[in-house]
Amino acid sequence: MKKRIIGVIVLLAVSLSLQANDNKEIKMEAKKAIMKLGKTLKGEVVKHMKTQGAQSTAYFCYKSATKLTEKVNSTYPKGISVKRISLKNRNKDNYPASKDEIEMLKKLEQKVKNKEKLPKLIVEKISSNHYKVYKPILVGKKCIVCHGDAKHRNKKAYKIIKEKYPNDKAIGYKVGDFRGAFVADIVK
Ligand code: HEC
Repeated sequence: MKKRIIGVIVLLAVSLSLQANDNKEIKMEAKKAIMKLGKTLKGEVVKHMKTQGAQSTAYFCYKSATKLTEKVNSTYPKGISVKRISLKNRNKDNYPASKDEIEMLKKLEQKVKNKEKLPKLIVEKISSNHYKVYKPILVGKKCIVCHGDAKHRNKKAYKIIKEKYPNDKAIGYKVGDFRGAFVADIVK
């Protein structure tokens, strides 16, 4: 009897530590993929803002955000893809695709409202070989130009945005607000 209990405990410990390792590996892979997309998008936007101004950058985002996202995705290892999602989205394709994503965004938004510290990455196991890893996106000073309220937005830039996205919901944000998340979808 005693042996059996010890056996079960050992098995549990091994499976827990295997799972922890698994998550570590998943986290590393997700982090790498998300950073690559984040850096690409941010780098291009910052570069355009500096050299071309807000109005032209707004048009650039409209023209290129999806293409750049697809381009970076095409460089990932098989089974990995990354997208950006938001409950207050601008591009209709960036609304969460499933219930679990909606629930996660709501949970994270509530945490920001409660002024709780957000985890850097959240791993969700969907099935034995399928994971989703979230990285929250918060609003910074630079984002207000195109995502702030009427008083703080760049009027010319927003004219273009409203024209291209008549159903835009991605406005009224203040610095520190929860904007959405990167989601890495990983199938092993
Ligand atoms: C020059 C204008 C501009 C600036 C500055 C800007 N954005 Fe955006 N943002 C856009 C446009 C246009 C889209 C829609 C792009 C598309 O079609 O995918 C967008 C889309 C997004 C999305 C995808 C979800 C959605 O609503 O469709 C996120 C997340 C986002 N922006 C976050 C940010 C953050 C964070 C910053 C600041 C670091 C920022 N943006 C700065 C114009 C801008």
